[in-house]
Amino acid sequence: AGRKGGATPPTARGGLPWFGHMLNFARNPYHFVSAVASEHGEIAAFTLMGQRIVLLTGDEASEVFYRGSDEQLDQSAAYKLMTPIFGEGLVFDAPIARKNEQLRMLMPSLRMEAMRDHSHKIVQEVEDIIASWGESGEIELVEFMKQLTINTASHCLLGREFRYELSTEFAAIYHDLEEGVHPLAYHFPYLPIPKFRRRDRARKRLQELVGGIVRKRAAATDKPSDMFQTLIDMRYEDGTPLDENEITGLLVGAIFAGHHTSSGTAAWVLLELLRNPDILGRTEAELDRLLGADGAVTFGSLREMPVLEGVVKEVLRLHPPLIILMRKVMEDISFKGYTIKAGDMVWACPPVTHRLSRLFSNPGRFDPDRFSPERREDRNLMAYQPFGGGKHKCSGNAFALFQIKAIFAVLLRRYDFELVDTPESYVDNYSDMIVQPKSPCRVRYRRRAAAAAPARPVEAAEPPPECPAHRKAEAAPVARPAITVAVDRQLCQGHAMCMGEAPEHFRVGADGTLRILKEAVTEAELEKVQSAVLYCPNAALRIERH
Ligand code: HEM
Repeated sequence: AGRKGGATPPTARGGLPWFGHMLNFARNPYHFVSAVASEHGEIAAFTLMGQRIVLLTGDEASEVFYRGSDEQLDQSAAYKLMTPIFGEGLVFDAPIARKNEQLRMLMPSLRMEAMRDHSHKIVQEVEDIIASWGESGEIELVEFMKQLTINTASHCLLGREFRYELSTEFAAIYHDLEEGVHPLAYHFPYLPIPKFRRRDRARKRLQELVGGIVRKRAAATDKPSDMFQTLIDMRYEDGTPLDENEITGLLVGAIFAGHHTSSGTAAWVLLELLRNPDILGRTEAELDRLLGADGAVTFGSLREMPVLEGVVKEVLRLHPPLIILMRKVMEDISFKGYTIKAGDMVWACPPVTHRLSRLFSNPGRFDPDRFSPERREDRNLMAYQPFGGGKHKCSGNAFALFQIKAIFAVLLRRYDFELVDTPESYVDNYSDMIVQPKSPCRVRYRRRAAAAAPARPVEAAEPPPECPAHRKAEAAPVARPAITVAVDRQLCQGHAMCMGEAPEHFRVGADGTLRILKEAVTEAELEKVQSAVLYCPNAALRIERH
């Protein structure tokens, strides 16, 4: 990066002056970018409304996108339209260092350890929503998943006050905030139109409600375990707590980032299972085997579901809900002799990269086994990118995967499902900003003959053993150990999956920083450390043999 004077990237022909390829793009964004990439390759340029865009696809060009620093590649330009919703001074409206501090504050509630607690709430929400289903019926799947995932997100992140006491008012506020996400806000965020006025009223009211809860909780002795409370207790590095605007903005940010992305993915999981009956059979067999007839859904059992996990990963390969990720180029970048100029936008495009046959075998085929330990087609982090990559990779990825597994652990054991329309008629709606199956998306359900009893979450499953850091000195190796474990700091986001797998080796502090307690790995410890390496959502750990 940084070398100047290279060639201009191959540029898509046609297009109108200034408008560029806007018409083709608006008609179907995915088909347009996919056609540009297949004609011109991994780096290709075009214009939209006077803005030059450089499309980066494939693993090598994606690396330029994901490994760029915040100073080289600015995230905020792409997300400017969210400022009135998140709030001023928050995330993309904050200076880089502060933005990253704020983003890190979300991690403690999203990483694996927090799932021990969230899993009860998620299971309870699924049970509650299907309580009125009866023997059989039909649902609009996309709407159903939207409702379910807003219930789980408000329960786990916002907490019981918004979920139960203020649920009607919160639904109205959330509706007005969502309606306020409009492309017009890129250029005129505060235009006095009714949509934007309602958005601003809703944001203000939400903050008042947040303020009320902060004061009430301060007086309470029993503090809940939700993201809201984590943010109340959080401090910036200089010791300052978050104010009510910041708590509100970060909560809204987490909900917006996680809601439609999760609901669309969950909907696609069911559709793909119904289109692939053999895989559905294997998934159901796995759930029945792991959870048995008594229905207990444990934190541990949810983690160990290779078949269902493969299905979710494959759904995310073929139907990633975020199809375009954007950054503004702040300084010239060179890639394979081409120069990407400051002022250009760069786009990564997960669904295009996910369908390249040099990166995924038979890429059009729905094949969850491609993620098996023997094949590991998600090993190349710059190829498999439904959650983005690098330091801004989705911090909710562990939460999202875990939540979807919890949803299906309940749904598939209680009901049988069936597509109402022909399998090919279920397609992605690429005109949505967050891509989901096109509506109507109808599915029938019928209670399973030997339906499991309501799934009971097991109370706080096995807590991790005490941190053995104090024993470190005793374990000091005399010679260089044969096997060690190391972390790539650029990739680690502090999900703490490793701490759950091998607590003697890894500790993630409240600030999300990973400490390797013990670099040396004995043969006896190897299996646990290997699991930690395998389950790290960012593949930030590696075992080294000397
Ligand atoms: C970022 C996808 C669920 C919170 C991202 C990015 C992607 C993504 C692609 C990177 C955006 C970029 O680089 O511009 C997904 C998908 C999900 C999902 C496919 C579900 C299947 C969630 C959930 C949460 C969440 C449930 C939180 C509750 C975030 C946050 C970021 C992010 C905070 C910003 C990270 C940063 O910039 O450092 N997500 N997401 N996501 N996601 Fe997710």
